[in-house]
Amino acid sequence: MEKVSVNASTNYDILIERGILDNCGTLIKECTNAKTAAVITDDNVDKLYSKAVMESLSAAGIRNVKYVFQNGEEHKSLETVSSILSFLAENELTRSDIIVALGGGIVGDVSGFCASAYLRGIKFVQIPTTLLAAVDSSVGGKTGVNLPQGKNLAGAFHQPALVICDPDCFKTLSPEIFADGISESIKYGIIADQKLFELFENGDVEKNIEQIVRQCVIIKSDIVSRDEFDTGERQKLNLGHTVGHAIEKCSNYKISHGHAVAAGMVIACKGSQKLGICADISERVEAVLTKYSLPTSTEFSVSSLVSAMLRDKKRNAENINLVLPTKIGECILYKADVSQLESIFG
Ligand code: GLY
Repeated sequence: MEKVSVNASTNYDILIERGILDNCGTLIKECTNAKTAAVITDDNVDKLYSKAVMESLSAAGIRNVKYVFQNGEEHKSLETVSSILSFLAENELTRSDIIVALGGGIVGDVSGFCASAYLRGIKFVQIPTTLLAAVDSSVGGKTGVNLPQGKNLAGAFHQPALVICDPDCFKTLSPEIFADGISESIKYGIIADQKLFELFENGDVEKNIEQIVRQCVIIKSDIVSRDEFDTGERQKLNLGHTVGHAIEKCSNYKISHGHAVAAGMVIACKGSQKLGICADISERVEAVLTKYSLPTSTEFSVSSLVSAMLRDKKRNAENINLVLPTKIGECILYKADVSQLESIFG
């Protein structure tokens, strides 16, 4: 079993092992001593993994109840949160009980937000079932929901008590959803780890998936331990995201996050080269993304992307912090004047 320890406002472990799902009850019992667990999941994941998780919780002597909501971004909402909070109250969960978030990023973000709010905060365990959630959203304590006015506008920092990652769950992902996670994993290579990047260039991802998840969460947890509340260095995790979010927005969210970030990373590499911050690494980045069927460019014009970016920020912002690579394995935060954006990304 791979284990990574996170040192944030609360310390916790990330456990990574194929097949670990069947043993999650014992691991949760050891870590939380909970009497009752509310398993929160979506209708897709429910069919695949709820039974194993609930049987394991029962075998460990943890009473368990389940709340299932419909999959999809539109259900990452305050209505879902409200309904889950009522479910927790109806089932008389106490402050020593826990939530188990079983699913991808949406399930983790919604469940974590409920855990931060219910009885002013109870513990929760993340069991990410997508590669994207495993390497990113299940770690670091960002929780929240969308508002009609925009994505992730309501939320809280609330660290999990434990993260249990079973890479066997990735076998049921569609190739596109798996590729979304690959995109975020390649990002860690570009921002902080040349060897990890080379593994994507030359290695066998399936065979090395536990090591890949481990390396990504080590990089993320190191950064989170230094900047838990996202006031500086944590922004480095957003390589490719400024342009990526704009691509998602311009496509009306038809282009998925990981695919949009892939194109965003190439555009950031080219921008960094233009500014003289890094040598030409974009060819290598494009080649590796192409290897995993990820896009390396976008159909949207630079002016529509920049408009979308600026709508995303506070309207009177004069500067935008960009994450720009200096080489494979290293990046900086660069404060760009908004008037520079079209020429950097054009
Ligand atoms: N997904 C970026 C972060 O957790 O800060």
